[in-house]
Amino acid sequence: MAQQGNFKGPSRLGELGHGATLSSAGTVSGGKPRAQGLKDVDFERRSFLVKVVGGIGAAVAISTIYPVIKYIVPPVKKFSNLSEKVVGKASDVPENTGKIFQFNKDKVIVINDNGKLTACSAVCTHLGCLVHWDNAQNLIACPCHGAKYKQTGEIISGPQPLPLPGFKARVEGEDLIISKA
Ligand code: FES
Repeated sequence: MAQQGNFKGPSRLGELGHGATLSSAGTVSGGKPRAQGLKDVDFERRSFLVKVVGGIGAAVAISTIYPVIKYIVPPVKKFSNLSEKVVGKASDVPENTGKIFQFNKDKVIVINDNGKLTACSAVCTHLGCLVHWDNAQNLIACPCHGAKYKQTGEIISGPQPLPLPGFKARVEGEDLIISKA
């Protein structure tokens, strides 16, 4: 009659562990005592559960912390480094007005003084406030501590240590173009 179920023949007893022997009664003796065997099984099960729970905990922690860090840490802005750029339309800066544009990493104020375009940095060299064009006084003014600059960026008066770095502005067709000085 063919063997059935989980019967282990003598040829497979070597797989049962060190020291296991077949007694004359046909039972397996030797190897680890039953209590010790159960302890090993419990230990393996516990260590497996610890790994599973640890893995789940790590996944939950990462999925919770990652969005928080993404929210707190500002994204790194990548700026181009073009020698010139179309920043808008000529009509964006009507006569006797000034407007600020982003050019690479710089904020640049373009001034249209009766049709003559000039451009310089829009960041005050005192403490970094954004300047504006004061058409009534025909100068660039900083609202923070009263710095005044000429249309081309030279210092008129105020606490600023340096003039505004210059840029160039021109119109081609309808396009307003800023370029490095
Ligand atoms: S930041 Fe412009 S005057 Fe102080």
